[in-house]
Amino acid sequence: MSIQTPPRAFSIGDLRIGAASAPTQIEGGDVASNWRDFADRPGTIKDGTSPRWATGHWERWSEDTALLGELGLQIYRLGIDWARLEPRPGVFDEDALGHYRQEITAIRALGVEPLVTLHHFANPSWFEALGAWEEEGSVELWLRFVRFAVGSLADLVTQWCTVNEPNVYAGGGYVFGQFPPGRSGAWPALRRVMRHLAIAHCRAYQLIHDLQPGAQVGFAHHLRDFAPLNPRNPAHRALARANRYIFQDALSDAMLGGRFPTILGGQPREVTPGPHYDYLGINYYSRTAVSKLADGRFPEVPVSDLDWEIWPNGLVSVARDLHEKYPGPIWVTENGTCDTSDSFRARFLHDHLGAMVGSGLPFERYYHWCLVDNWEWAEGQTAPFGLVHLNWETHERTIKDSGRFLAGVIAARGVTQELYDTFVAGQTYQVR
Ligand code: BGC
Repeated sequence: MSIQTPPRAFSIGDLRIGAASAPTQIEGGDVASNWRDFADRPGTIKDGTSPRWATGHWERWSEDTALLGELGLQIYRLGIDWARLEPRPGVFDEDALGHYRQEITAIRALGVEPLVTLHHFANPSWFEALGAWEEEGSVELWLRFVRFAVGSLADLVTQWCTVNEPNVYAGGGYVFGQFPPGRSGAWPALRRVMRHLAIAHCRAYQLIHDLQPGAQVGFAHHLRDFAPLNPRNPAHRALARANRYIFQDALSDAMLGGRFPTILGGQPREVTPGPHYDYLGINYYSRTAVSKLADGRFPEVPVSDLDWEIWPNGLVSVARDLHEKYPGPIWVTENGTCDTSDSFRARFLHDHLGAMVGSGLPFERYYHWCLVDNWEWAEGQTAPFGLVHLNWETHERTIKDSGRFLAGVIAARGVTQELYDTFVAGQTYQVR
């Protein structure tokens, strides 16, 4: 199946557009987190870099905030770093809190609405030493932080994203060994980690509403469009269904519907079945072609510089499936691509936005991943996803053409023929 090309020019209607980021990937500084410790272990990060440097955002936050204004973004998803805010168990850093308050105040002063993530792959080192999310007690420890963070920011923030991609976090850390703690094939641990993160979300949903009745709360679910490599092969078809269930659908049931299937250890006492979301947060990047219990891709398809298939239709199909079971407004909490020379990102944006607005689904928001090129976890500094280029030596930021394109789309409330001709027409995807 080929990409269904949207019309060249189209209106985006009421869709609100912005960008997303995560603290560990941008801030820098010697923060005692699982990722700092992991990166200190030789051989873990492709280029040997560390979140100690990242993009220098902790110092340059006002420059990055100004970029939001320059691009005319309407919304911005940022995270606050648990490890930075709670450097020792139960001890909160008021200076770090003040820093975040200042940044969020500046974001709001530009008319940009903040959505704040409470867990994005990073844990304090002390929490990791206690066994992190494998342990049942992890949930209470994290909720103590949530209570502090939400209580301290409630006058500035009403939109919360509890947990980012529990499936990617758990898979990366316990099955594929690319994330801390770097374990491989630890399936029982994977199951416990997913269960505890799912309970954590459900309890945080409740807690945040208790603290702030008008809050909008959800989580960022990484959804992939799973397809059998060979659709005529019944084993591929069965495995595609199994992968999809293990990777995403079981978690949707637990975290959106509050119903914990057996694979996630059954119903916890502390969660009552029923909706646990105010929006459907979807992080969408690519499709998986399944022939075994692992990631694969179709041959001869458009790909990013990380070799991920570019498959805009998939964003609509995962959203449609989720929305059918769990109706509600859809917020694309992440979508983006690794494009080192910015030679196809405008087309990528055009095709994904076009697929969304032509779908008839209630897509309310689109947060592009990401604002400024950032520290890409195990890929280190080698995978630029930004609308803004980062010079890794000087930390100088320069808006890319794709950033200008997105700014134009927001200003014109759609892709005009002129925007298409200027930014998209000359771009093609690499096919591999
Ligand atoms: C994560 C981001 C990451 C992006 C691109 C998502 O899985 O939430 O932190 O940078 O993918 O790899």
